[in-house]
Amino acid sequence: PDRAITIAVTGAAGQIAYSLLPLLASGSVFGSRQRVALQLLDLPVTESVLQGVTLELEDGAYPLLELPVKYTSVSEEAFANADIVVLLGSFPRKPGMERKDLLAKNGAIFREQGLVLNRVAKQETRVLVVGNPANTNALTLSQFCTAIPKVNITALARLDHNRLRSLVARRLSCAVSDVHDVAIWGNHSSTQYPDVSFAYTSGVPVGKMRAALGGESQLQSEIIPTIQKRGAEVLALRKLSSAMSAARAIGDHLRDWMLGTASENELVSMVVASDGSYGIEKGLMFSFPVHCYRGGRYKIESSLSIDSFSRKYLEITQNELISERDEAMRVVSKMC
Ligand code: NAI
Repeated sequence: PDRAITIAVTGAAGQIAYSLLPLLASGSVFGSRQRVALQLLDLPVTESVLQGVTLELEDGAYPLLELPVKYTSVSEEAFANADIVVLLGSFPRKPGMERKDLLAKNGAIFREQGLVLNRVAKQETRVLVVGNPANTNALTLSQFCTAIPKVNITALARLDHNRLRSLVARRLSCAVSDVHDVAIWGNHSSTQYPDVSFAYTSGVPVGKMRAALGGESQLQSEIIPTIQKRGAEVLALRKLSSAMSAARAIGDHLRDWMLGTASENELVSMVVASDGSYGIEKGLMFSFPVHCYRGGRYKIESSLSIDSFSRKYLEITQNELISERDEAMRVVSKMC
């Protein structure tokens, strides 16, 4: 392709960005022929860090990277003409902080960024929200950014999806590439439902995966909680949240969304606006198994049959998302 793809990244002086930017610049996300222009945004207090990251990107001498790399603390400049916007920047949860305060802080950020995108983005711009609480931040943004169709606004569930895929491979002693169609449902939080009901490998056919992993009690007591708490486990060990794996997941999400999955039938998990499938409230930003097609298109897989074991988990995560949404909408509606 002749034209460079323009990618805006917020929170670009942070941890995830430090792993993500080299993936984008090197061609490992969009391929070895696609030129990439980066527009980096972070808060004014991090200006020198952001400048340092920019110098390092220049020093990487990436053949596909447009120079100079743009960096700024003005969101209009970062978002202008972007094909893809990756929103890593958000207000982190501080010790003792209540969820409602976290939703209020982030409500303000994502309302503002939605309004800016509304002014400067293109209709075709694709937005990926990563900053937590990711589902609800994406919902807030989409409320204030009517210029971008809701289908073009997504949030990241791919890290949870990859974690589950890898766990299944480890349990079955098979290659990760042999594990297909795991799914993450709901919120990117500890209420998410990591689902193996439709997963298969060359040795385990569809419908037999729960049994192959030890049955429903094993799923309930061990496998599901392991994935739900994996982020907290990494945080406790590293004293920093997942960044390398998050960057990898962002690359996977963007590649599949823009270029389609490697095989046409593969299911991947993305947080998208519900179309009402599976009784999930329409418009709620919910992680679903989706199919991706070249050109930035995807479709929620809506024909899976949900049994009572899964239904219980779907209800829990949907209820959490509804209460997050209600709280976020309550606070942002007061900001004018
Ligand atoms: P970090 O704290 O290292 O970096 C965040 C950066 O965002 C900081 O440089 C900060 O100055 C910047 N920032 C804050 N508010 C901003 C704003 N309004 N505009 C522009 N920049 C802003 O955090 P890290 O580790 O890079 O993680 C980023 C976010 O991603 C966090 O919210 C984290 O919880 C979330 N996360 C989400 C995952 C997912 O699967 N959805 C996985 C891992 C992390």
